[in-house]
Amino acid sequence: MPGHLLLRSGLALSATLLSLSNIPLVHAQPAQSFPLGDVQLLESRWLDNQQRTLTYLKFVDVDRLLYTFRTNHALDAQGAEPVGGWESPDFPFRSHSHGHFLSAWSQCWAVTGDQGCQDRALYMVGELEKCQANNAEAGFSPGYLAGFPESEIDKVENRTLNNGNVPYYAIHKTMNGLLDVWRHMDSDNARDVLLGMAEWVDGRTGRLSEGQLQEMLGTEYGGMNDILAQLARESKDDRWMAVAKRFDHAHVFDPLAQNVNNLQGLHANTQAQKFIGTIHEYRASGEQRYLDIAKNAYGFVVRDHTYAMGGNSQAEHWHEPGNISGYLKKDTCETCNTYNMLKVTRELWANEPVSHYFDFYERALLNHLLGVQHPKSEHGHITYFTSLNPGGRRGVGPAWGGGTWSTDYESFWCCQGTSLETNTKLMDSIYWYSEDGNTLYVNLFTPSTLKWADKNVTVTQKTDFPASGNIALEIAGSAQFDLSIRIPDWAGEDASLLINDEPVSDVSVAPGSYAVIQGRDWQDGDVVALSLPMSLRQIPAQDDENVVAFAYGPTVLAANYGDRELSGLPQIEVGSIEPVPNEPLAFTATAGEESVVLSAFYDAHDYNYNVYWRV
Ligand SMILES: *[C@@H]1O[C@H](CO)[C@@H](O)[C@H](O)[C@H]1NC(C)=O
Ligand SMILES: *[C@@H]1O[C@H](CO)[C@@H](O)[C@H](O)[C@H]1NC(C)=O
Ligand SMILES: *[C@@H]1O[C@H](CO)[C@@H](O)[C@H](O)[C@H]1NC(C)=O
Repeated sequence: MPGHLLLRSGLALSATLLSLSNIPLVHAQPAQSFPLGDVQLLESRWLDNQQRTLTYLKFVDVDRLLYTFRTNHALDAQGAEPVGGWESPDFPFRSHSHGHFLSAWSQCWAVTGDQGCQDRALYMVGELEKCQANNAEAGFSPGYLAGFPESEIDKVENRTLNNGNVPYYAIHKTMNGLLDVWRHMDSDNARDVLLGMAEWVDGRTGRLSEGQLQEMLGTEYGGMNDILAQLARESKDDRWMAVAKRFDHAHVFDPLAQNVNNLQGLHANTQAQKFIGTIHEYRASGEQRYLDIAKNAYGFVVRDHTYAMGGNSQAEHWHEPGNISGYLKKDTCETCNTYNMLKVTRELWANEPVSHYFDFYERALLNHLLGVQHPKSEHGHITYFTSLNPGGRRGVGPAWGGGTWSTDYESFWCCQGTSLETNTKLMDSIYWYSEDGNTLYVNLFTPSTLKWADKNVTVTQKTDFPASGNIALEIAGSAQFDLSIRIPDWAGEDASLLINDEPVSDVSVAPGSYAVIQGRDWQDGDVVALSLPMSLRQIPAQDDENVVAFAYGPTVLAANYGDRELSGLPQIEVGSIEPVPNEPLAFTATAGEESVVLSAFYDAHDYNYNVYWRV
């Protein structure tokens, strides 16, 4: 029976059950993000990143991308040339990128209303639907959809897979992309293809014993628990929550539920995706244990495995808790890890809106992800790792990636896919509203406008952050609401807030909390002016207080060493660090008996830099 037919009967069945007990428990989420299109970036480094990624998204040839799907599902490649890198026809987990493209195109559409992005997404979904519909011909089970044969799933189940494939990792990406097209473009096709895949996952996994499942989960599976838990909420059918639970990896989750750090030696990005999933499993099931797992994992990663600039892992792995100085290497801070950790962070915050989550979010987005994209690349190409060795350099990839920047058609690394998403949703966490609709949260300092439809107000954020800590929020329209602004942990004690140039007496502006302006009747033209004093800070390695990075306010600094190689960590004279007059975020210092110039690490491109110093 074709996948579709199964699917339609499945839908009809769940609709009748809705009135009985089939409504998933949706656990309270105190803070909600705005629809993507309600927030627009204004001219800034963030907008430039978005623009470069959009250029690539509208350049890429969709038929070339479809080559592996079409040929695998016994359809004609329509004369398209295959692409290379991790999407070449013989790469084990080819077809892992398409979901990222679908997500990025749908975000592009949601934010800018760009028809080119919508057309591409809907075209790809339509072609994937044809692939899925041809499964009988290809010899696959109904609903299966990938660029590699279904026998790879037999092998991951029977533990004979030995070619480096991670089939469920790729399948999760496709499912997630389809969910985004369904959500953002209201596409029934995307929903049906996704539900067809979910039916197939249910069929494959439903016949395995718990022991077989747990063994299978030893192979990286992306966020299969995540997509299925999200599907339960999106389709209001908790059948999918039962399937999500089959991807609960006991070996990783059990110690974390007990607040034991078992992360040492694990492949970092494999786990980070599962932690996002546990938050959605919590929301779909109400089971506290899921939230504990994510919260504890977040705590361990951020406290014990994260470098000053917010990235984590070395050679894609977590090492001894706290050992940072021992792993200042070329292959630190895989981009995907931080992309996933930021998803974990924002979802944890939405459940518990305390400011420290966004202190971390800001640190990692500004100092890691923003600089992953090369600012001179018109197509927004990216680096896989962000090196932290003495005299490191961006664009130094792993050997199999050619040790370079991504390219249009010859790389397709995981980090390229996640960066397509990152740079099309840079606005998604700036503003939030409380569940009761009475509070507006401002979590990030980014030039942008928010159109808050429910209140009929527009908030415009003007700032040159992080060059300075001066932020103005201008209100257009009038409405009553509480305004909660994050006061970062790095801000000085003399942080201040003015409304229409007047001090506000009853509002506390303390670093590491929210400044809350309660119950004000905002009037058209009101301006909130926030001043966040910045100073030079030392960020010691967790394991060695004599190994430090420097930051000015939120911005991690790096010294420019041109093309020179460094044999070890340079010794810096802390007292010698002086700001360069009239140049924001620029400092001179004496290190290793020579004069060096430090500036924002996110802008350290095309030269060897140094981030950690001996003091
Ligand atoms: C595992 O699955 C593969 C692919 O279907 C098959 O070739 C192989 O014989 C199976 N091995 C075992 C031990 O069942
Ligand atoms: C930290 O890592 C380094 C480099 O791998 C290693 O030599 C050292 O023993 C580690 N230290 C601890 C305390 O684990
Ligand atoms: C929304 O605000 C605009 C002016 O900012 C005003 O003209 C309009 O009447 C308001 N709409 C509603 C529904 O209150």
